[in-house]
Amino acid sequence: MPKRLPIHFIYLSRSTKRVLAVLGSVFTLMFVLVSCGLFFPFSAELSSPRPKRVFVQHITRSFHTLNGSLQSSDSGLCISDLDYTGMQHITPHIPQINDSISTHCQDWLPYYGFPRFFTLQFLKSWYLPAPEVSPKAPIEFQLLSRQQTQWGTVKISFEVKGPSHMSLYLRPHAGASLSGWSFGGGMLRRSGESFIFYSHGLDAPAWTFWIEIRVSLNVSPEEGLISLAITAHYFSGSDGRSEPLESFLKRFPAWVFSSSWISTYHVYRY
Ligand SMILES: *[C@@H]1O[C@H](CO)[C@@H](O)[C@H](O)[C@H]1NC(C)=O
Ligand SMILES: *[C@@H]1O[C@H](CO)[C@@H](O)[C@H](O)[C@H]1NC(C)=O
Repeated sequence: MPKRLPIHFIYLSRSTKRVLAVLGSVFTLMFVLVSCGLFFPFSAELSSPRPKRVFVQHITRSFHTLNGSLQSSDSGLCISDLDYTGMQHITPHIPQINDSISTHCQDWLPYYGFPRFFTLQFLKSWYLPAPEVSPKAPIEFQLLSRQQTQWGTVKISFEVKGPSHMSLYLRPHAGASLSGWSFGGGMLRRSGESFIFYSHGLDAPAWTFWIEIRVSLNVSPEEGLISLAITAHYFSGSDGRSEPLESFLKRFPAWVFSSSWISTYHVYRY
């Protein structure tokens, strides 16, 4: 019996040039069609799921003055996505999510002014006003001490009681820089803006830490040395849910796969 050998289609055709030209034009045509957005990119079909991933955080932000008093606060649903289409396919379903509420990088605030969970910076977020969040166990943030060290720096200690996941952002102001801290055995990798993610188990003691700031230039007295933002993330239990968040998530079309949680974000200056 002669063995059957598989043979490529391309060897059977008289002219490879013509085959390549046809395949090339099919590729170009599809590329143009896909680039024009003619095909809907998402699907909720279980056989070929193509979900649109979005993050929805119900947040309350509070901004404090140098003397600790509350300067302003706002609350809303912060919506972020992971792909270049943004909200263009969602806006027809939920008209309130449109470019009028897209946030711009607030780069004068620690981590652009929003309680990020990841250090990756989203291209753009949408911030839809919503009622305040009211976790049953709100974060307790406290300044323990502030002292001038012998070597001319300012050492500030803090204590935090809060949920299992918290993030801390440190942003020294112009003329000041971080020169030490209690994290990672005191090893300070960089003295600019820093992000610390902290998580703990049940019954953990209060989180205490200190930072040390070197003042190299005249910092303006009304600005202070550093902006510090502390975020509490609530993922589970009743603190991880809210009525505005639940009813908002129900409005998404079926092909949207959302991750949602509740956060509070406090900015302090020292
Ligand atoms: C705190 O500072 C703000 C202005 O930054 C001022 O309006 C307020 O009276 C101050 N509060 C106290 C207790 O000093
Ligand atoms: C865009 O969003 C804003 C705020 O959510 C809303 O008031 C407005 O009606 C929306 N615009 C359109 C065209 O739906």
